[in-house]
Amino acid sequence: MNIGDIVIDPPILLAPMAGVSNRAFRAISRSQGASLCTTEMVNANALAHKSAKSYWLMELDPGETPVGIQIAGSDPELMALAAQEAERHGADLVDINMGCPVKKVVSNGDGSALLNDEEGAVRVVQAVVEAVKIPVTVKMRAGWDHDAITAPQLAERFQEVGAKAIALHARTRSDQYVKPANWDFIRQVRERITVPLIGNGDVNTPEDALRMLETTGADAVMVGRASFGDPWIFRRIMHYIETGRHLPPPDAEERARMALWHLERMVEIKGEVVAIPEMRKQLAWYLKGTPGSAEYRQRTQKLTTQAEAEGLIEEWLGHARHQELSWT
Ligand SMILES: Cc1cc2nc3c(=O)[nH]c(=O)nc-3n(C[C@H](O)[C@H](O)[C@H](O)COP(=O)(O)O)c2cc1C
Repeated sequence: MNIGDIVIDPPILLAPMAGVSNRAFRAISRSQGASLCTTEMVNANALAHKSAKSYWLMELDPGETPVGIQIAGSDPELMALAAQEAERHGADLVDINMGCPVKKVVSNGDGSALLNDEEGAVRVVQAVVEAVKIPVTVKMRAGWDHDAITAPQLAERFQEVGAKAIALHARTRSDQYVKPANWDFIRQVRERITVPLIGNGDVNTPEDALRMLETTGADAVMVGRASFGDPWIFRRIMHYIETGRHLPPPDAEERARMALWHLERMVEIKGEVVAIPEMRKQLAWYLKGTPGSAEYRQRTQKLTTQAEAEGLIEEWLGHARHQELSWT
């Protein structure tokens, strides 16, 4: 799949996720086969107010490519400026958020609120397309609720004004994250656009990924929550699509190695004081799956220093090795 001139191969992408898809998580996902990663969303209004956090969210690793910077907002002028800032930061593409369901965001008319405002949404996409040379993509939900499935019509309009790909999260705003994704929405968008279509929502296994590609007409799949503590999912999906066979899951050594790498990068990027609380849930996800790991996962919630976190992972690894020995 190509987005503009950017080759996206394999067609397996990491979803933009606030609080998760930072530089460390993107590097890890890329190392395991995610071909395009996107930043956490950057609010165009906050950026206009020179918010340090917004600039920080746009920072990319040296050589990180291809990468998208996602921007959110409903003011065409501010969105155009945000897109130019993303381009200056080295993004290969700029992605517009039309899916965020959070009250604070939609009450400003941003995120999924744009799904209810066809002309406003088209103005935003057009302004962003005209402001930058890099490709512009839109990540959207199916609609506000099940009585207003606006994505097919909107996607067609976005393509007309120059969007180079659409990512469809197959839920409505009212579904939040809880209701199962309905991939029929992806099919409905496929009927209306010829630019690449990226399917998203409940791709939790390699079988899900293949089924989404085969049944919806999507050109690529985007994985969100299934990557938590399991960046290997990208490689497993790729292998399954190519061979029809499953790669074995990572063993305890590999999980500990990845958890330690993630921890180290987060401390480098954010400093220990910020990184450790953010890593508590991430580390717990890495430790999932071995008998008796519940106790270790609970202990992650009390971690305060890098040394403590490293000690806990080493301890868990010793326990997991012992378990593996007693299984064989
Ligand atoms: C913690 C979290 C943060 C998210 N932040 C964003 C975001 O910043 N921008 C966005 O477009 N979607 C965001 N999403 C939505 C995901 O990109 C994705 O569409 C959603 O999780 C569905 O995919 P999944 O079923 O594979 O998790 C977020 C989701 C989660 C769970």
